[in-house]
Amino acid sequence: MKRLLSGIKPTGELHIGHYIGAIKHFIEMQKDYESFVFVADLHSLTINPDPKELRNNIKEMLGLYLACGLDPKHTTIFNQSENIYHPALSWALTCHSYMGELNRMTQYKDKSLGQKNESINSGLFTYPVLMAADILIYDADVVPVGDDQKQHVELTRTLAERFNNRYGTTFKVPIPVIAKQGARIMDLQDPTKKMSKTDDNQKGVINLLDDLVVARKKIMSAVTDSDNIIKYDIINKPGISNLITIYSCLTNKDIKTIEEEFKNSNYGEFKTKVANEVIKLLEYIQNKYNEIIKTDYIDNILDKGLKKVEEISKNKMLEVYKKLGLGRY
Ligand code: TYM
Repeated sequence: MKRLLSGIKPTGELHIGHYIGAIKHFIEMQKDYESFVFVADLHSLTINPDPKELRNNIKEMLGLYLACGLDPKHTTIFNQSENIYHPALSWALTCHSYMGELNRMTQYKDKSLGQKNESINSGLFTYPVLMAADILIYDADVVPVGDDQKQHVELTRTLAERFNNRYGTTFKVPIPVIAKQGARIMDLQDPTKKMSKTDDNQKGVINLLDDLVVARKKIMSAVTDSDNIIKYDIINKPGISNLITIYSCLTNKDIKTIEEEFKNSNYGEFKTKVANEVIKLLEYIQNKYNEIIKTDYIDNILDKGLKKVEEISKNKMLEVYKKLGLGRY
């Protein structure tokens, strides 16, 4: 069975962008792959989060993974920081990556924009190498991600190929899996920018644990143009196109069918339908989440997950150290 691996950073609340761009695919694919899904808590350190808040976010994310439908029978769930081999491989790969290629990462460029070198966290710069280690240490075949992470998976492929060429075949070269629809859900208030958990204006972001009344209001007040025609046109109608994408991903209806279905409706009617779908999803997730979070189910899953991932990654790490001539291997 081929392996799937992916993760999410616990830097804020999970929103429907994460659900549509990533989690939904983990769930749909988990039966067909040996799946590994983790909380990328080490990656969240680049913003030096408050430790108490980070601890809460990690637990919340794990509860939401399960509530959304990740099934421990099919998916090994774990915290990145608990497996000490990730940062170990990351260092070995850092010494095989170049400043130039890390400098070209668009996420790094965006996040460091306007900051002086003295104040840019160097973890932000080497962040994609840790991500490469997360993937390569498990010989993952496929990595489902939203489109903002594609460049990082491409760098992972480059690093794997470079290492294999220098030291003999060691790593599988992974394939990024990016959905045609919903790989970039946009902010509801500014549909030209990606919905993001660190956004100050929470009116544009639907969190999975949002109060249902608040979530409905956010959809109903989503920014659109004013021509009242439900038509998918990213350039001229980014707001309504984003709502069509959300509706399409939640109902599995294609865009043409949706345009046809709503050809005689106005924006208010369409938004109500989108809101109904979003609320149905949130209600389902929240009910399950509230059950799970009261129990010690999460800890049991993590203990089992850690045991499994440690064994796989320790073997890979020893192979790498041996090839590099490190220690006494
Ligand atoms: P992160 O935490 O920023 O996002 C997690 C996943 O959600 C997707 N995503 C979106 N998809 C559609 N629309 C949006 N608005 C949206 N916002 C986020 C992201 O593309 C991503 O797939 N570096 C990664 C975490 C990571 C990782 C890994 C992923 C660490 N190691 C190894 C895969 C494999 C990150 O920060 O994602």
